[in-house]
Amino acid sequence: MKEIKIAVLSGDGIGPEIVAQAVKAVDAVAVKFGYQVTYTHALVGATAIDAVGDPYPEETHEVCMAADAVLFGAIGDPRFDNMPNAKVRPEQGLLAMRKKLGLYANLRPVNTFETLLHRSPLRYDLVEGADFLCVRELTGGLYFGRPQGRSEDGNTAYDTCVYTRTEIERICRLGFEYATKRRKKLTVVDKANVLATSRLWRETVQAMAPSYPDVEVEYMFVDNAAMKIIQQPRHFDVVVTENMFGDILTDEASVITGSLGLLPSASIGTGTSLFEPIHGSYPQAAGKNIANPIATILSAAMMFEYAFSDMEAGAAIRRAVDLSIAQNVVTEDIAPAGVTPRSTTEVGDFIAANI
Ligand code: IPM
Ligand code: MG
Repeated sequence: MKEIKIAVLSGDGIGPEIVAQAVKAVDAVAVKFGYQVTYTHALVGATAIDAVGDPYPEETHEVCMAADAVLFGAIGDPRFDNMPNAKVRPEQGLLAMRKKLGLYANLRPVNTFETLLHRSPLRYDLVEGADFLCVRELTGGLYFGRPQGRSEDGNTAYDTCVYTRTEIERICRLGFEYATKRRKKLTVVDKANVLATSRLWRETVQAMAPSYPDVEVEYMFVDNAAMKIIQQPRHFDVVVTENMFGDILTDEASVITGSLGLLPSASIGTGTSLFEPIHGSYPQAAGKNIANPIATILSAAMMFEYAFSDMEAGAAIRRAVDLSIAQNVVTEDIAPAGVTPRSTTEVGDFIAANI
């Protein structure tokens, strides 16, 4: 019996509903592969602001630190979106969590499901076979650079983009390592024609490249990358980029798969790793039992693969997900015309049962 401790941070909006389905999948894996799982639930996001006034309370941090992995839902609440002067925001909880857990790398695999290719707004022949990994830097850049704020008269605002060579090296090292394990091509996405930080990225990668002689390195400006991801997604193998560019490009890349509800992610770094869907809290759907749980369930698959090095457990989850898609046991966002969409819980039950 392998004992594992999982911190469960459901967060806001659809978070609790989708995470509950991932927990069912984990329970099914536990039975099949001999795990004894201890779950500890903790507050994060708007839910935590409401309860204790802090979007990432110290207690939650301690729960995460003590766990072997964190399963995360989503955060965000429209109540805060139009309050530019709110003192605390749910997103601050997410950023504080990433920083305090040292989660400097966000891995977002993008691949297609054969039976869903018709759902993509892109042409079948363009997206078919697309399979790449975005390695997004997660604890630097504009998200964390200081100073950030307003001038005294309130009429000027500023954010600062900061990267150190050390930060660039550690994220690009991961990029090189994943490229080595995959098709040996690394695309470094930047804006080196304008930004000083991007030029430091290039310089740093150029210095690292000779240590990875079998990896082909390519540099691409972010605007060009935004176009190429849509136009020629099969061009990419591993993409490494800074925080904000990675945020934008991965939402864009999700259209390749046909739904934002399908993309999982792993955030790894110096401490406990965290697994979360790339989509947000989808507040309009909260409590309606309609949200697609697949991205979160696939995040649980990544958890077994990355945090517990258990490829078989991950594969069992993936097979069950593939089956749900192949048999059209899916939520409304990906249900084909003429097929009755299933609820979040029905999809979760089906996948758990098939693990
Ligand atoms: C994501 C989200 C977050 C980000 C938001 C909610 C702060 O969009 O994880 O991609 O920008 O990193
Ligand atoms: Mg985002």
